[in-house]
Amino acid sequence: MHKTITGFSKLSKSDKIDWIVDTYFSNKGTAKTILKQYWNDDNKLQQLHDEFIENTITNYYLPFGVAPNFLINGKTYTIPMAIEESSVVAAASKAAKFWLHRGGFKAEVISTTKIGQVHFTYDGNPEDLTSFFNTLKPKLHEDTASMTKSMDKRGGGILDVQLKDKTKDLTNYYQLHASFETMDAMGANFINSCLEQFATTLKTEAEHSLSGNVNVIMSILSNYVPDCLVRAEVSCKVEDLTENSKISPEAFAEKFIQAVNIAEIEPYRAVTHNKGIMTGIDAVVLATGNDFRAVEAGVHAYASRTGSYRSLTHAEGKDGIFRFWMEIPLALGTVGGLTSLHPLVKLALEMLGRPSAKELMQIVAVAGLAQNFAALRSLTTTGIQEGHMKMHLMNILNQLEATPEEKNKLVSHFKTHTVTHSSVVDAINNLRNH
Ligand code: MEV
Repeated sequence: MHKTITGFSKLSKSDKIDWIVDTYFSNKGTAKTILKQYWNDDNKLQQLHDEFIENTITNYYLPFGVAPNFLINGKTYTIPMAIEESSVVAAASKAAKFWLHRGGFKAEVISTTKIGQVHFTYDGNPEDLTSFFNTLKPKLHEDTASMTKSMDKRGGGILDVQLKDKTKDLTNYYQLHASFETMDAMGANFINSCLEQFATTLKTEAEHSLSGNVNVIMSILSNYVPDCLVRAEVSCKVEDLTENSKISPEAFAEKFIQAVNIAEIEPYRAVTHNKGIMTGIDAVVLATGNDFRAVEAGVHAYASRTGSYRSLTHAEGKDGIFRFWMEIPLALGTVGGLTSLHPLVKLALEMLGRPSAKELMQIVAVAGLAQNFAALRSLTTTGIQEGHMKMHLMNILNQLEATPEEKNKLVSHFKTHTVTHSSVVDAINNLRNH
């Protein structure tokens, strides 16, 4: 059976749901109940969410957690995190507390430049195009003046536009390669509007002035932002590194640094290592209403900038001092987009003290560094499964509808027994039958 439909987007929300339920579910009542369970009672709030995207039929919840005690550049933060993965918020909080007593995190924004490109082909003489571009350039600025007015006032705007000859890589391919400063906005709309105007101006002017043909292929910002860079760092005396008596601070530092070094040279490990960093980063990016897909794409490209995929973090022990740091590209905004629309995003930003985009870059980078610190700390000492198994046990106990009393008894039982689904079922049955 072909399950297709024309005009779906024009149906009312309730007709959309009826079609979905009739087409895909044998138990229509249950499907409808689940979808409606996630609707908000507040119609206005629900409508707001309905209108974020197209064809909304319900809401998909993610837990919104908080990690307190982050000391960053001498200021304390409670960091909001939207994430479904267990142990992440606990790990971030643990890392925050660890560094709270060791001077906290230092973070610094290195650069804030973003890039956008008009991709076009030209089949004429390259020298003609170069001299044409020199006369075109002021016109590009003139034609976008009305768009950039308010950004200019805030101290941002178009920084530069260059003509790039890419014909060695692809026949007749050129770019207008533009750089932007978008201040507290992520800037996607601003950049894309400027680029589309550049494309129009380019096309119009080329028709008058060039004998060859200019064909605009597309105009779009780049999510690769290696010049929108933030650095986060922690350091302390090696002797202050561990409160865990099972391993000496020196041995811990050595193992930790070796774990980072492995991720510097081994892509299989680097991907998982960086995934752990992005777990912290995405959670804060999402909670603050930013574009985590853009951040993910840009960060992984940055991790490959040397030609091989490497660790984003670095560590060293020198003269008795342990240092752990990371530089990553982050294009974030604290105005515009979801930041002024989504009530939880507004709350998250208020909780962070209404940060500027630069301050948010620092907070997000620190969350990533903290997450990596926590992961490597447990990987190189107890192993990752200890914490995961505790959560796994709670999940199984919840599935089995364990009472608080049963949970207490079984958590203590499984401190010395291996958690598997069947061992938990056996243990709870044992408890219930006695
Ligand atoms: C799990 O979400 C993330 C880790 O695998 C990261 C790492 O291995 O470094 C624990």
